[in-house]
Amino acid sequence: MHRVAVIGTGYVGLVAGACLAELGNDVACIDVDAAKIATLQLGRSPFFEPGLDELAQRNRQAGRLAFTTDLPAGILERDIVVIAVGTPTTDEGHLDLRHVRQAALDIAAALDGPKIVVNKSTVPVQTADLVHSLIEEAKAADHAVTVVSNPEFMREGSAVADFMHPDRIVIGVDHPGAEAVLRDLYAPFGAPIIVTDPRTAEMIKLTSNAFLAAKISFINEIAAVCDLVGADVRDVVTGVGADARIGAACMQPGLGFGGSCLPKDVLALHRIAARTGASTRLLDAALAVNAAQVEHVISRLATLLDGLDHKTIGVLGLAFKPGTDDVRESPALVLARGLAGRGARVQAHDPVAVANAAAELGDAVAFVDGPYDVATGADALVLATAWNEYTELDLGDLRRRMRGDVLFDARDLYDPRKVSAAGFTYAGIGRRAPATARAVAP
Ligand SMILES: NC(=O)c1ccc[n+]([C@@H]2O[C@H](COP(=O)([O-])OP(=O)(O)OC[C@H]3O[C@@H](n4cnc5c(N)ncnc54)[C@H](O)[C@@H]3O)[C@@H](O)[C@H]2O)c1
Repeated sequence: MHRVAVIGTGYVGLVAGACLAELGNDVACIDVDAAKIATLQLGRSPFFEPGLDELAQRNRQAGRLAFTTDLPAGILERDIVVIAVGTPTTDEGHLDLRHVRQAALDIAAALDGPKIVVNKSTVPVQTADLVHSLIEEAKAADHAVTVVSNPEFMREGSAVADFMHPDRIVIGVDHPGAEAVLRDLYAPFGAPIIVTDPRTAEMIKLTSNAFLAAKISFINEIAAVCDLVGADVRDVVTGVGADARIGAACMQPGLGFGGSCLPKDVLALHRIAARTGASTRLLDAALAVNAAQVEHVISRLATLLDGLDHKTIGVLGLAFKPGTDDVRESPALVLARGLAGRGARVQAHDPVAVANAAAELGDAVAFVDGPYDVATGADALVLATAWNEYTELDLGDLRRRMRGDVLFDARDLYDPRKVSAAGFTYAGIGRRAPATARAVAP
């Protein structure tokens, strides 16, 4: 059993804290956001993440998981202190380390014994060095502090399962004692542990997200070609992905990548490289393809509807991916905003993300109660987030509620033949519409 403090109770910190408690560790989760901590103390999660409420509640009741705004009390007599605060993008595209710095200074001021400070936030290379020197310069008492980089790879929507069953655990550490403690902390997960130096661990995280982003942009580019030559991207992915060197994961065409990680982390890696004078032509292309993807869908919709002005468009899904209420950098929001900006009346639904979306979109969009209401009077429907519950929708019922007949499946959720059979004009990304399956010459 280890005594662990986690600073930051967002998607990463809360999941990490609850999962480490589940394995029998004694965990204190700390946040500056008093409202968040109050919600957690009442036994509720401040955001939607499958399985998290129950996990946090169970461990809180078992006395293994506590929540506090009091950092000195939270880290008291805890030898492992995890930093999991946010690192948003600055106006210049760098990762903003303000919260990481503050956490380091707060740890330094409250130091009551030797600590292993584990950085889980996604940060630029050399941040472990920075955190170490900030703590060394400001520490209130002369206790030994080791700073370790331990990037997190969980995905929102399956964060608990990802944390409990990781593909690998990366530990960037220069100190054998700290390495032994972290190996012991993570041993119960049964995953391969990759030990390296902190700078390399930081680079692994950024590279990992950059590669995933490049894969998504790559398949979106291929899907656009498929559209023009009459090929089917889903079969292309199956055929290509069967090659063990390539794999089919993260090769689903759609509205592009969004969320709180990929866009900002790829941009940050670009900025880091630019500072060194290194070129990042592949990263630049991945970002450029992504930036154009939603606009590509909007112009196809404009063509299908003969203009967007005064058209009513129903948008199914607002979260940046299914399984989360997170709308940060959500392509669905970019789409809704873009359509409204072109004069369309947008009506939208999401199973859990409406409150967060409304905070971003204001009254540019009308939020309706259910997925069928999205179709009422609409000229076109766009499936923007591939929620499971949207797979079950009665397509015929949706169609009958509409004024027009376009269904744009921007997440490749539906079978084009079923969509057409329900009376829709099908549009997708790289998928062959049944009526035109053989009509387009290569
Ligand atoms: N969300 C993901 O899927 C994911 C996955 C892997 C890595 N990451 C990285 O993990 C980090 C955290 O991401 P997140 O999505 O959990 O962020 P988040 O915004 O959901 O949560 C961050 C939390 O930190 C708190 N905080 C900020 N400063 C603090 C301080 N000085 N002391 C205590 N608490 C403080 C905030 O109040 C907030 O609750 C980021 O660097 C992110 O890039 C995120």
